[in-house]
Amino acid sequence: GKGTAVTESPGGCPIDHSRLDPTGCPVSANAAAFDPFTGPYQEDPPGSLRWSRDEEPVFYSPKLDYWVVTRYEDVKAVFRDNITFSPANVLEKITPFNDEANAVLAKYNYAMGRTLVNEDEPAHMPRRRALMEPFTPPHLAQHEPMVRKLVRERVDSFIDRGKAELVDEMLYEVPLTVALHFLGVPEEDHETLRKYSVAHTINTWGRPAPEEQVAVAENVGKFWQYAGEVLEKMREDPSGPGWMQYGIRLQPQMPDIITDSYLHSMMMAGIVAAHETTALAATNAIKLLLEHRTLWEEICADPSLIPNTVEECLRFAGSIIAWRRVATKDTEIGGVKIPKGAKLLIVNTSANHDERFFDNPDELDIRRENASDHLSFGYGSHQCMGKNLARMEIQIFLEELTKRIPHMELVPDQEFTYLPNTSFRGPQHLWVQWDPAKNPERENPEILDRQLKIKIGQPSKRTITRTMTVREISHEADDIVRITLADVRGRPLPKWSPGSHVDVELGELSRQYSLCGDPDDRSSYQIAVLKDPESRGGSRYVHEQLSVGDTLHIRGPRNHFKLNPDTQRYIFIAGGIGITPILTMADHARREGKDYEFHYCGSTRSAMAFLDRVVRDHGDRLTLHISDEGTRLDVEELLRTPQDDTQIYACGPQRLLDALAEATQHWPEEALRVEHFSSDLGELDPEKEHAFDVKLADSGITIRVAADQTVLNALRAANIDVPSDCEEGLCGSCEVAVSAGEIDHRDKVLTKSERALNNKMMTCCSRACGDSLTLEL
Ligand code: HEM
Ligand code: FES
Repeated sequence: GKGTAVTESPGGCPIDHSRLDPTGCPVSANAAAFDPFTGPYQEDPPGSLRWSRDEEPVFYSPKLDYWVVTRYEDVKAVFRDNITFSPANVLEKITPFNDEANAVLAKYNYAMGRTLVNEDEPAHMPRRRALMEPFTPPHLAQHEPMVRKLVRERVDSFIDRGKAELVDEMLYEVPLTVALHFLGVPEEDHETLRKYSVAHTINTWGRPAPEEQVAVAENVGKFWQYAGEVLEKMREDPSGPGWMQYGIRLQPQMPDIITDSYLHSMMMAGIVAAHETTALAATNAIKLLLEHRTLWEEICADPSLIPNTVEECLRFAGSIIAWRRVATKDTEIGGVKIPKGAKLLIVNTSANHDERFFDNPDELDIRRENASDHLSFGYGSHQCMGKNLARMEIQIFLEELTKRIPHMELVPDQEFTYLPNTSFRGPQHLWVQWDPAKNPERENPEILDRQLKIKIGQPSKRTITRTMTVREISHEADDIVRITLADVRGRPLPKWSPGSHVDVELGELSRQYSLCGDPDDRSSYQIAVLKDPESRGGSRYVHEQLSVGDTLHIRGPRNHFKLNPDTQRYIFIAGGIGITPILTMADHARREGKDYEFHYCGSTRSAMAFLDRVVRDHGDRLTLHISDEGTRLDVEELLRTPQDDTQIYACGPQRLLDALAEATQHWPEEALRVEHFSSDLGELDPEKEHAFDVKLADSGITIRVAADQTVLNALRAANIDVPSDCEEGLCGSCEVAVSAGEIDHRDKVLTKSERALNNKMMTCCSRACGDSLTLEL
């Protein structure tokens, strides 16, 4: 009733003012003008809501009769609480049909009911748990050869033509076929289901004109009927590998959870869930990358960047741009009062462009480290179950296209059209062209054998590489060279902090080097490399073969050796090449006006890197300890008296570090900080460990962590995304908030006082002291 009144008088106000504070009509001019079917929202969805993110992050839209939520934290909070914010309206028609169209649906006994995505608790979680297994990584891995084969066949069909419309010729087709296979639909029925599937999208999220509604309803009705027939066929022989057959087989054991209505509705909704979402996301990704040509070229040159590129494209231009919920009680979002019964449009794409969460959100950055925190798959207990299948498909699209048609470009001046609707977004057509004479496989057919190993799930930060040019190599000290590296295209490099290192890939090897230049210099990085006589190739390669102009891949920077800013006084101790991180720390302390002393140890002056710079910049704080001059450091003497509010930062040979550990036994526990480049914390001895439960508060599930399994791996096996990098307890990227249970901390990231708070843990190595932990995931 309320909805009708509003659409009829857009100027009027539907809100129960007695519930609101302030009492004046709260609909601002911007809110009154908001219309998701036309104009700015259709042209640039996240941009069109910038005003809202800035001024009115939760607003009532009279035209839609929905409350619109646009900031990252608020959108995530709504997803997180599926009790207060029910998903019951997720598949409701956003534009109600006229009577005539409804009559058509009735003719087909159309009865789309609850599936998963729109099911409330307590029915939803048991169903989701029961049906999750076919989505877990080992099961999904079985689909990879099929996906790859389908993509290759499509590319084969147009590669010699020099021009293609990628949506019709590939991007629409492949995910549909994958979806039908995943669901277990017999091949002979693919054709018919393919015809009907688009009708469902317009039916649910679009605004078909009155005269189109009957035609849409006809197709929806037929789709429904046909889905029922296919389901019956599957019931006759439910032995197949599909997800629907999996559900059919479970039904006798749990008839109240896997109902007939569920199976019939999912047979239809499942196709849409798996098909258009993925097709549109892939189309958006390819369009975006071709529009950002240098990024396209980078992934052509280094396909290992593809997994994170997929995440960034999903963030920047996901295919589900808004989702819905309904408030089950009077509540608040971001301080705005929301009445019971209020319908919510939560705009994922706006959240994904929220600068309060993502740095420079309007920049497409394929190396963005938190790209996969996007909300394009939703979040929490209803988060997309098929996300890892979708990720795999989009990765394979990008991989095959960048490998086989790197010279592909957008056909200029084409107009992109979008189906007007609130939620599904992607251009209907995408024309590309290239010169087939330049297809690399004509010269090098062997490229066809090259393929990425697909890792199912969220990409690790380890996959994020950067290509650098060697700009300068100079002698720094005996057996030490200083190397200056710059981005291969001259773009600004990420900022770093004292103590950071980069991983440099040297052929098969990867070596970690501390950055030792000026942290404010975004145009180049400096590392210093000591020639190690035992070198298996890393440092020897650098010394003997690397030349100016060569390119190198690096990862990072990362900082596992951060300077604690709250410490009053620092003692810096460097031995030999260990000067590299310590020097940048001392520089920082000096700039910040901190109290510090600096000890630099070496065997002889000519072997001590950066000696002039150290003496010049730290003269009054510096003590040199040079063995062949008889001024060797007496560690015990230096550290005899523990000092309050003082921390010792040391880097150097193991011998020196051991002596320091010994000499600081009587110091406060965290006084000595040393750099850890590697550890064995990711390894487990199942003999000494015990299994325990991890309860996930946001996802509503409990998973068992086996004695020989890390929490991180158990989470991934259950399709829960957690970022990671080192997986050895050194970097802090796998941190998760803990709300109950005692943590057995094993990492080298948290300080003693942070550990004592017992409110966060590194999931790659830390465990439970007792039987269970509750995580905020
Ligand atoms: C749920 C997006 C691909 C199956 C969802 C939700 C979103 C979404 C936004 C609701 C999340 C929430 O309420 O928190 C996407 C996108 C995809 C994609 C953007 C592609 C890029 C797939 C695929 C499948 C799939 C390939 C199946 C093979 C599902 C299912 C749910 C779901 C079963 C319901 C989960 C539940 O409510 O428990 N998806 N999806 N999706 N998706 Fe996807
Ligand atoms: Fe680095 Fe866990 S992934 S601390």
